[in-house]
Amino acid sequence: MRKKLVAGNWKMHGSLAENAALLAAIKPALTGIEAAVCVPFPYLGQAQAALAGSSITWGAQNVSEQAKGAFTGEVSTSMLLDFGCKYVIVGHSERRSLYGESDALVASKYLAAQAAGLTPILCVGESLDERESGVTETVVARQLDAVIRVAGVASLAKAVVAYEPVWAIGTGKTATPEQAQAVHAYIRGKVATLDAGVAAQLIIQYGGSVKAANAAELMAQPDIDGGLIGGASLVADEFIAICRAAAK
Ligand code: 13P
Repeated sequence: MRKKLVAGNWKMHGSLAENAALLAAIKPALTGIEAAVCVPFPYLGQAQAALAGSSITWGAQNVSEQAKGAFTGEVSTSMLLDFGCKYVIVGHSERRSLYGESDALVASKYLAAQAAGLTPILCVGESLDERESGVTETVVARQLDAVIRVAGVASLAKAVVAYEPVWAIGTGKTATPEQAQAVHAYIRGKVATLDAGVAAQLIIQYGGSVKAANAAELMAQPDIDGGLIGGASLVADEFIAICRAAAK
């Protein structure tokens, strides 16, 4: 049986004081429930101190594909390990579209993360234009293939995939459970053509305007194995409710 995993993506939000309150609220409420938070780099130490020994793990939202050196402003995998990270998000659509991250760069980051022992959360998803032009599956396949080509399909046994339709991110427009399920099933089916065992175990999260009110019906879909949560992960009661809905 695949387990479900909900991860918060705080994006560029938070402060020491806000994070302290949020972490103090979610930690006891999620005792025994596996969940994760991906926090801004400067707060990794805070997350580590607050969450060590709990069932909540933590990670980053980006990482350099380089090991070390003269790369001003970049953060390496070994730095994330220093702060006890388990996960790192790679290929979020905001990084692809706002910072020009190509499929090839995302694949390099994915490889670097895995080589270091971090679990990459690989984001894939189509824009509204792409959905309306009927190329959702083509886009998602291209994004996945870029990673499978360099890392191999077996690498997905140590990764999480997050399907995040760009048009549903931060817009309040959630994909319907049926729309999301269809793409999740496509992703699993595509991986299954290469390795059925890896496909059966692969955690495929849904992301895009997930909130407490719509979490249960999304999580009830057979190929939705949790969520990658933006805005609602900043609100303790919302995040707790989503994690509990997934754990049911
Ligand atoms: P929202 O939940 O705010 O739509 O963001 C989704 C997301 O981008 C998570 O990575």
